Amino acid sequence: MLARLAHKRIVLGVSGGIAAYKSADLIRRLRDAGAEVQVVMTAAAQEFITPLTLQALSGNPVHTDLLDLAAEAAMGHIELARWADLVLVAPASADCLARLAQGVANDLLTTLWLATKAKLSVAPAMNQQMWAAPAVQSALAVLRTRGVAVFGPASGSQACGDIGEGRMLEAVELADRCADQFETAALTGKHVVITAGPTREALDPVRYLSNHSSGKMGFAIAQACIEAGARVTLIAGPVNLPTPDRLARINVTSALEMLQAAQTATADADIFIATAAVADYRPRDAADQKIKKSADTLTLELVKNPDIVATIAAAERRPFVVGFAAETEKVIAHAREKLVRKKLDMIACNDVARSDIGFQSDDNALTVIWSDGEQTLEKASKSLIARQLVALIAQRIKARL
Ligand code: C5P
Repeated sequence: MLARLAHKRIVLGVSGGIAAYKSADLIRRLRDAGAEVQVVMTAAAQEFITPLTLQALSGNPVHTDLLDLAAEAAMGHIELARWADLVLVAPASADCLARLAQGVANDLLTTLWLATKAKLSVAPAMNQQMWAAPAVQSALAVLRTRGVAVFGPASGSQACGDIGEGRMLEAVELADRCADQFETAALTGKHVVITAGPTREALDPVRYLSNHSSGKMGFAIAQACIEAGARVTLIAGPVNLPTPDRLARINVTSALEMLQAAQTATADADIFIATAAVADYRPRDAADQKIKKSADTLTLELVKNPDIVATIAAAERRPFVVGFAAETEKVIAHAREKLVRKKLDMIACNDVARSDIGFQSDDNALTVIWSDGEQTLEKASKSLIARQLVALIAQRIKARL
C-alpha cells in the first residue's frame, strides 16, 4: 500500500498543537515510502517543534512565511501549491480548520491551500471538548463537502489529561491514509522507457521528411507511468509539448538518434513502450548545402531506417516491449502479424481511418493485443486511455511472473 507514495509530492502543513511532534515521525515514514516532502509551518507550530528538526527530516528547507522575499525567491507559495500532489495538514488545530473552512488566507499554509489543485487532507488534533464544539464540527462538515479527506482523530488520553476524541492519528496510520489517496502503485520500482513523437530525416540543412505525429499519446503514457510509481525516461522527437514533471526527457531528431537513445536508456529498463512515429526511410545522404531548385523533377534516394522497437525486442537483455500500430484496414490482423514479427509482448493498435481519434487528436481508442488475449479500450481522452494501457501492461507483467 505504501508503495503508492513512490515519487509523490506531499506538502505537510503543521499547525500549532502538541501533536506536532508526531509530524516529525510522519515525515520520515513518507520519505521511507519514496515520497518527497515539503513542510509548511504556521507561526504557532514553531512554538511546539523547531523548523530545524523538520528541515533535517524532510531534506528540504521548511517554509514558514508568506511575505519573506528570500523564501519566495527560492520556492514561492504558488510554486509550492503547484508542486504538491497532496496537501496534508497534520496536526490541524481548531483555529487552522476554521481558517481553512472559511477560506481565510492570512499565512503561507492557508494561502497555499487555496492556491493548489492538489488533493487536500487534514488530520485534526485538539482537546476533546474543543473537538465536540459545534464550530469545529461545522468547519469540518464544510471541508468534507469540498472533498477534503479527514484523517481521524482517534480517541484516548490527551496531553491535557482529558480522555476522549481529538488525538491525532499515529504517523504510521497517517502515512497509510496518504497512500490511500493515490490510486495505483502498479509500476512502482520499474524503469519505463518511452519513445514519442515523429522523427525528422534531414534532406539538407533546412529541409526534412517527417509526419504529423503530435507525441500526445506517448506523453500521456509517460504521465500515467509516473502516476503508477515508475521511473520514466521519455525519448521525444520534435514535438511541441511541455515536459511532464518528474521524468528524464531526452530530445532527439532523427530515427538513428532515437535508436541510440533507446538502446542506452533500455540497458536497465523493465518496460519499453514505442509510441513514436518513426520515419520508415531517410535520405541516403543529407546534402551539406541547401539543395538548389533546378530541374523539373528531383529524385530522392531513401534508405530504410532501423526498426527501433524490433531492435530493442531482439536485445539479449530485453525489457517488456510494447509497440503501437496505426492501421487503416484489417487493423487487428495487421497488428497481430506485427506483434509476432517484431517479437513484441504487447501491441496497441489504432484505427487511423477514423477521423475522430489518433494523430493530432486529444482522444484515442485502442485495441490492445498480446499473445493469447486482447482488449478494446473505447474512445476516451488520451490520458484516460494511457492509464488503462498502463494498468494492462502491469497486469501482463504480473501474469508472466
Ligand atoms: O511497422 P510500423 O511502423 O507500423 O510499427 C509501428 C511500431 O513500431 C510502433 O511501436 C513504432 O514506434 C515502432 N517503430 C520503431 N522503429 C521504426 C518503425 C516503427 O520503433 N523504424
